[in-house]
Amino acid sequence: MTFEHLSFTQEDTGKGSLILVNCFHPLQKHPEGSQLLNINSLQVEILSPHKGIFENPLTCLEHPINEIYLQKQAATMLLSLIKRSGAGGKITAVSGYRSKAEQTAIWTETLEREGEAFTETYVAHPGCSEHETGLAIDLAGTAPSIDYIRPCLPRQGSLASFCSLAAQFGFIIRYPEGKEEITHIGHEPWHFRYVGFPHSVIMTQQGLVLEEYVEMLENETSPLKPLLFTQSGAHIDIMHISMNNHKKVELDFSDALPYTLSGTNCGGVILTRFRR
Ligand code: DAL
Ligand code: ZN
Repeated sequence: MTFEHLSFTQEDTGKGSLILVNCFHPLQKHPEGSQLLNINSLQVEILSPHKGIFENPLTCLEHPINEIYLQKQAATMLLSLIKRSGAGGKITAVSGYRSKAEQTAIWTETLEREGEAFTETYVAHPGCSEHETGLAIDLAGTAPSIDYIRPCLPRQGSLASFCSLAAQFGFIIRYPEGKEEITHIGHEPWHFRYVGFPHSVIMTQQGLVLEEYVEMLENETSPLKPLLFTQSGAHIDIMHISMNNHKKVELDFSDALPYTLSGTNCGGVILTRFRR
C-alpha cells in the first residue's frame, strides 16, 4: 500500500482554476507572464483572428486585438474544445487576460460612454475581474463587426455544439441568466470561465454558479466526507479543506492518486483526487 502525504499553505488559497473572483473576493495575485499563452499564436486556423473591427471600439486596450492570452491549461483545453465541436473559423476570441491597469481603463472608458448602470452590469471592478486571472475568455461568432463589451455568440450549428461540450472540457458559462443577484454581473452568454473537469460538469448539471459551488463544497465536504463524482468508470473525490487560522494543513491518505489542487480565494483549498 502506498501512502500519500499532502500539505497546503495559505499561499495555495489564492491560486488555481477554481478561485472565486468577484466584487467580494478580489484577485490576490495576477498570473506571471510565463503562465500565459497567446491563443491566436497557437493555432490561427482554428480561432478567427480579429480583423480589427469593433462595433464599439475601445481605445484603451493594452495588447493588439489579435493577441489574446489565457493560462496554459485553459488555452489548451479551449483549442481542444473548438476542434471537437467543429467551431474552428466560426468563433473569434474577443478578450482574455487583462492586467489590472487594462481592466481599470476598460471600466473608465465604458463608464464614460455607457454610464454607471451599464458598466456595473457588464464590467467587473478593477481587481475583481475574472479576466485578470487568465482563466476567462469572451467569445463571439466570427462576424465582420464585433461588440467588444457584449459580443454575440449565437447558439447555432457548431457554436451550439461548442457550448454544449464546454463543460466536458472544463469550461462554464460564468454569468447565466437568473443568477445576477448572486454573481452581481448581468447575463453574459459570451463569457466562459475555465474551472477544470469535473467541476465544470457538476456545476453545469446542477445549475450552480461558482459562488454556489464553492459554498456547497465548503459546507458539505471535507477530507472525511468528499463529494464523489463518477463518469464513464472514473471515480473522483472532491473535498474542501479550510485554511482559516492555519498557516499550514497536512493530510495523510492511505493511497496515492493523481490529484489537482486549487484555492477557493475564500480561505480554503479544494483537493480533487482521481481514482481509476
Ligand atoms: N465582463 C466581466 C464581468 C468582466 O469585466 O470581468
Ligand atoms: Zn468576459
